[in-house]
Amino acid sequence: MNKFEIKGSRQLNGEIKIQGAKNSILPILAATLLCEDECIINNCPHISDVDTAVEILLHLGCDVNFKNNVLRVNTKNLTKYDIPENLMRKMRSSIIFLGALIARTGFAKATLPGGCEIGPRPINLHVDGFKQLGIAVTESGGVIECEIQKINRSFSITLPFPSVGATENLMLASLACDGTTVLHNVAREPEIIDLAEFLNKIGAQIFGAGESDIIISGNKKFHGTYHTVIPDRIVAITYMCAAAVTNGHLILHDISSKYINSSISVFEESGCFIKEYNNKIEIVSPEKLQSVKSIRTMAYPGFPTDAQAPVMSSLLLANGTSVFVETIFKSRYKHVGELLRLGADIKVEGHVAIVEGVSKLSGANVTASDLRGGAALIIAAIAAEGTSIISNIKYVQRGYENITEILNDVGGCAKII
Ligand code: EPZ
Repeated sequence: MNKFEIKGSRQLNGEIKIQGAKNSILPILAATLLCEDECIINNCPHISDVDTAVEILLHLGCDVNFKNNVLRVNTKNLTKYDIPENLMRKMRSSIIFLGALIARTGFAKATLPGGCEIGPRPINLHVDGFKQLGIAVTESGGVIECEIQKINRSFSITLPFPSVGATENLMLASLACDGTTVLHNVAREPEIIDLAEFLNKIGAQIFGAGESDIIISGNKKFHGTYHTVIPDRIVAITYMCAAAVTNGHLILHDISSKYINSSISVFEESGCFIKEYNNKIEIVSPEKLQSVKSIRTMAYPGFPTDAQAPVMSSLLLANGTSVFVETIFKSRYKHVGELLRLGADIKVEGHVAIVEGVSKLSGANVTASDLRGGAALIIAAIAAEGTSIISNIKYVQRGYENITEILNDVGGCAKII
């Protein structure tokens, strides 16, 4: 039961409701640790990374109830400040619990996190930022221990790179400070804005989220709240890719183009027609896509690195040559070897991947090695002639809610075997 069987030569037509954002709900669930009463989170996707976050909250002594996309968490009875290695290793986002635990208890103990193997996933920016805040951090044998020493009342920290996770961790840890912390050169993703909106609802005072500088004023007491998670922009792009490569026509609900502007221009350059109305995005794709000359992944608001693999799959049958430059992660082309098994023509030279459009793809047995790479294999399999078997689907299930049901509802033919 850890494989997808996907029948190809499908054309996707229909409507899809876009799930809540994985990369928003995960830091928000960590942030609930700051409140000493109940938080109710709406539009929470049923994906395995959320299950892992729930396991962490339960381990720490919190009460959690999660059904029908509504997650209730009450951290009143928090009893621990350590996260066991088996949970830390399950996902990258487990590291964000450090900042929240520090702000709530003054302590945190964990091991290095897991996460997709798309290159080194160091946490030096997180640790350096903690130390600048006056938090003592010791690292030994893969175990990190944090303890508030003398919190600097007001401080200014500049990130050498707009790291998403480091931004989130320092936003949370800064709430342990009485004074004001200014974070410079931070990540500007929509998920950062969503986290800041959640934190302001529970009593924090955070300004500038979505810009390069964020101002955070600490607060000793935080209260519960009700929050609806923003839609998952990468999931939306993924389904748009599946429509694009199958000459399909999809209407995506509950998603605004403001979250995916840098990707819309890529779809339009490939020949797709994109229309937005009433919080929906409609994509109509031509019989054959045109190649996209250059796609360079950048920090937000640039083209998202998480969309690189799905968009690559959408261009495998395009007319001409498309060129990808992956600037965020050092090893984010592991899906290429598997796409070649399906008949793609791709050459990788360092950070650059050169995709030559081919006339057809053929079903094959392939293996996912990370979340978005796995999504790329699904997209290519839907467009291929014949049947494909995709192994290691646990990676895909970390971030895509009900993906087989959703694809089958719009003309796909996928099942778990
Ligand atoms: C978040 O990962 C996302 N994950 C990733 O999505 C996304 O690809 C990434 O941001 C970039 O947008 C979650 O939000 C759970 P980073 P994160 O810190 O926080 C280097 C997906 O598919 N770096 O912005 O780990 C790092 O090695 C996942 O949903 C350091 O060197 O990303 C990388 O090269 C995959 N030191 C670059 O910065 C650090 O301390 C970007 O990392 C931290 C990061």
